[in-house]
Amino acid sequence: MDEWIDYYDSTHTIYVSKLHRDLHFQIIARDIIGYISSPDAVVLDYACGEALSAGQVADACARLYLAEPAPGVRGRLIARFAANTKIQVRSLDDVREMAEGSVDLVVMNSVAQYMTPDELDAAFAVIRRLLKPSGRFVLGDILRPEVGMARDVAALLGFGARHGFLKDALLGLISTALSDYRQLRTRIGLQRYGEEEMLKKLAAAGFAVSRAPRNIGHNPWRMTFVAHHAPT
Ligand SMILES: C[S@@+](CC[C@H](N)C(=O)[O-])C[C@H]1O[C@@H](n2cnc3c(N)ncnc32)[C@H](O)[C@@H]1O
Repeated sequence: MDEWIDYYDSTHTIYVSKLHRDLHFQIIARDIIGYISSPDAVVLDYACGEALSAGQVADACARLYLAEPAPGVRGRLIARFAANTKIQVRSLDDVREMAEGSVDLVVMNSVAQYMTPDELDAAFAVIRRLLKPSGRFVLGDILRPEVGMARDVAALLGFGARHGFLKDALLGLISTALSDYRQLRTRIGLQRYGEEEMLKKLAAAGFAVSRAPRNIGHNPWRMTFVAHHAPT
């Protein structure tokens, strides 16, 4: 769904303050690092967004590919990490051309909700091809059909309260309610999957999969799945 890519390429207000944005990317980086099993690992962050803390992820692995479809975001990633020889920035078209069996860990966090089910299947096929036989695919921040927007609001307010930006979180929720995000979320919606449904979807794409005990990031009502090549 290209409209969501355009949204993420715009000057959006999804992060309510600089502190929120910085903390968000620090937590995502910490959680990604938790899935890196060796300092020799090759890691791919699929639709990484601004990836402000990617330097820390790169410190924990041998090579980090930051793949991002939004061209403006990609331009900033290239500038931000130009001096880091472990980080390579790629478009999603570039990712399709990467060598088969070349990646130890693929993370796709908070992206599936913006894709159609067919787009997600196509991404799964690319990711499965790229993964080494011993590699892992971590799919995070999956929204469930039974969990509505109120839980997203509660998760953001809890995050703000814990880290001292509750007032900005409240103001941010008001501006989000009046923003393009709300319009897009109402008009095209976010794609949601039940736990069983996602387990089946990943199995159909050739993965052996289980649900992780906790989600990546700050929202405990969303789900993370950990997958690897199903035995043939
Ligand atoms: C909420 S951000 C997540 C960024 C990062 N992975 C994180 O966890 O913070 C959503 C990302 O999905 C990308 N995106 C939006 N629609 C997409 C689509 N249809 N296909 C692939 N990526 C998409 C956006 O460009 C953006 O980088």
